[in-house]
Amino acid sequence: MTAKDAALRTRLCEADQGHVFRFYDDLSAEQRTTLLAQLRSIDLALVKKLIDRHLAVETEPHTPKLAPAEVIPLAADAAGRAEAAASRKVGEEALRAGRLAVLVVAGGQATRLGYDAPKGCFPIGPVSGKSLFQVHAEKVLALSRRYGRAVPLLLLVSPDNHGPTRRFFEQHSYFGLPAADVTFFEQGMLPALDRDGRLLLAERGRIFLSPDGHGGVYRAAVRSGAVAALRKRGVDTLFYFQVDNPLVSVGDPVFIGHHLRQESEFSLKVVAKRDAAEKVGVFAQLDGRPGIVEYSDLSAELREARSPEGRLVYGAGSIAIHAFSLAFFERLGQGALELPYHFARKKVPYIDEAGDLVNPAEPNGVKFESFVFDGLALARRTMAMEVARDEEFAPVKNRTGEDSPESCRQAWSALHRRWLAAAGLRLRADAVAEVGPLLALDAEELAAKVAAGTIGRAWFDHA
Ligand code: UD1
Repeated sequence: MTAKDAALRTRLCEADQGHVFRFYDDLSAEQRTTLLAQLRSIDLALVKKLIDRHLAVETEPHTPKLAPAEVIPLAADAAGRAEAAASRKVGEEALRAGRLAVLVVAGGQATRLGYDAPKGCFPIGPVSGKSLFQVHAEKVLALSRRYGRAVPLLLLVSPDNHGPTRRFFEQHSYFGLPAADVTFFEQGMLPALDRDGRLLLAERGRIFLSPDGHGGVYRAAVRSGAVAALRKRGVDTLFYFQVDNPLVSVGDPVFIGHHLRQESEFSLKVVAKRDAAEKVGVFAQLDGRPGIVEYSDLSAELREARSPEGRLVYGAGSIAIHAFSLAFFERLGQGALELPYHFARKKVPYIDEAGDLVNPAEPNGVKFESFVFDGLALARRTMAMEVARDEEFAPVKNRTGEDSPESCRQAWSALHRRWLAAAGLRLRADAVAEVGPLLALDAEELAAKVAAGTIGRAWFDHA
């Protein structure tokens, strides 16, 4: 052991975590290197803080006081449409000036979908079978062509899916994007702790670690140098979304325009919840600050509460599409502002004192995560805007039923059938539709191309 490693061992013993070296002498050289690297990556000060705040005292989780939050409604009337038009202009200017970068969070484990590869590799196009990554990348490419400026694409990955994600992009030649404009950066990992606050061993020479939640995106973006690189090329605004939603309108200029005109640091899109039971986070005021309350943290009474007009009082469902000012990302990522940690009790298989693997029947460990949207409470200004679900939100989360590949493809095909109809093209009633992003990013672009004869009617008029 080098002097540095010995010092690490001393620090761990002082933190009452010396048990992680119990099997060290029996490990191969390679296993020792892995274990030491893992231990070096663990922030012991943070672990201590998590123990003090969440384990040392049996506190009831704080239930914040809720109130509905202000949301820009769908632009249904003339005034709304004028505002949207003014914002579109500002958003388009920002795109033309190269001020925007796109950030996709793709570090999750896709457990519910039961898919082995990174979720972004999942084939989803209703006609083309394109992967989620391809659809997102082509939208970025189309955006950069439309506004004549390269749009950098950043992907948050985890140490577990970094390799396969990067290879997938390489194998597909970055889907037409310049490789230099695509950046992968890794989120942090956090250990799970047992009830006494001790690290758990997944193997004799390996600590149990899991991704630190998408709230880790701020720190990871700053530490990896990605934020500094964006600043250098003149980017000051980030468009953020989750890998699981192929309907996202990437870089939507109206949204970006509202965000910039309101000098917001953290903006979000919401949709009217499908019903009280829909499992999405809800945008609201929490203890007087804007925030998102997760479905599971909303009491049945508040979930069901309705206004006199019959609308859900807490019905602003977050679709996890955000805009950020880069400056806010920097402040959070550099640690000037601190996100809270959420914890969940889980069954974590571990190696016991005798060196045997135990598969616990009851939760034995606590896992910690931070959430990107907890940044809302820390932002100086925020903005929320309602959008139409059937135009922008069809996530792939479950294997079957709601939010499954099947429901996503149906919503997608239905939307693009409407685009085609609006452009005056007729499809057979049972035809499945998909308009590629490089052909058209929205209904207006499609209609304009059809009107200009760029897209032949002959393809379609065979009903
Ligand atoms: C999430 C939101 C919910 C919102 C819904 C909309 C949370 C806690 N909840 O729910 O408010 O209404 O999406 O679809 O986020 N990810 C990482 N690293 C991590 C964990 C997750 O990059 O450590 C990424 C995943 O790859 C995915 C996204 O974050 O793209 C969402 O994660 P997931 O755990 O699937 O959240 P949901 O339960 O779907």
